[in-house]
Amino acid sequence: MAKKLVSVLRGTPSWPPPLWLMRQAGRYLAEYRALRARAGDFITLCTTPDLAAEVTLQPVRRFGMDGAILFSDILILPWALGYGLRFADGEGPVLPRWQPEDTAGLDLRRLEGALAPVMEAIARVRAGLGEDTALIGFAGAPFTVACYMIEGGGSKDHARTRAVAYREPRDFENLLAVLTEATITSLSLQIEAGAEAVMLFDSWAGVLPPSLFRHYVANPAARIKSALGKQFPEVPVIGFPRLAGGQLGLYAAISGVDAVGMDTATDPALAAALVAAPVALQGNLDPVALLAGGAPMIAEVRRILAALRGRAHVFNLGHGILPETPPAHVAELIALVRSGGETA
Ligand code: CP3
Repeated sequence: MAKKLVSVLRGTPSWPPPLWLMRQAGRYLAEYRALRARAGDFITLCTTPDLAAEVTLQPVRRFGMDGAILFSDILILPWALGYGLRFADGEGPVLPRWQPEDTAGLDLRRLEGALAPVMEAIARVRAGLGEDTALIGFAGAPFTVACYMIEGGGSKDHARTRAVAYREPRDFENLLAVLTEATITSLSLQIEAGAEAVMLFDSWAGVLPPSLFRHYVANPAARIKSALGKQFPEVPVIGFPRLAGGQLGLYAAISGVDAVGMDTATDPALAAALVAAPVALQGNLDPVALLAGGAPMIAEVRRILAALRGRAHVFNLGHGILPETPPAHVAELIALVRSGGETA
């Protein structure tokens, strides 16, 4: 029998809904901070199989979520293609600022070898997971990975990326095409290594106008879902076009993904109307409500559960857990969702 998380992602509703949390492994956990200090560098943590597997399992062991998400990062993909990457303390990721001629240097042949430690981590996580917990693999969507490459790191408005998309569409499309193929390879390898569902994080999808959204967000997701669907028809794909708002319906229809992630700003009732069943919905508690805890958190959780009752719904946050979140609030959240919103 399929694990509950997987069957809901494939469109079968379940009450109370299964749950996992974006960034469920990370700095809010003392055991993560200890292991991170031991590894020294974040990339070392992601590419040392024992450490990456242990960090993946930490939150599941502590809280018993229905899903474990592989501990890695969306920027490990360009790193594996030979593109520079470092994580500066307190500054986030730093990459070389992409120029059109850099696309030719992205080496798809390096991928399998460079990602081998990640696949080994996946195999170890699977060996350490209970029968009811599903392992989720992931990648950044091509557009969001391109944003980090073109900006050379994070950005408030991604103006440089959008300027490239308008002024140099051929160069931009070439970059996205290479990243799309690399994403298909990475996700296929993750599934072969043991991932039971995969998620595509398009964190910056919402900075694009509708015309570009279709080309650079929905179409690459369609290409990725179609390639994975041929090889692994039973493995659900979750698409998360963050801040895409009213375009969620178009995204679901064009991409063919099995489930759509809702960000914090999305009204779950509106998402349920825009995204046709049996496509599942995932989300979308405000991570700040989790940080705050107590009565406001309880009210938000009940509102989300009520809006999606009867739909295939995976409970999650609307974005990643904040590092300041008290772990006790996570335990309370899980008990609350597991009781269908009744306890507390
Ligand atoms: O638990 C999980 O969700 C799995 C692991 C995971 C990480 N990053 C670990 C991480 C996942 C799924 C990601 C996705 C990711 N990474 C996204 C998409 C989701 C989103 O947040 O929008 C993006 C945009 C990135 C890029 C990235 N990685 C940034 C901007 C940063 C710096 C910001 C920060 O939180 O420090 C990272 C670093 C990172 N990735 C950390 C973790 C736990 C913190 C590293 C540390 O320990 O210092």
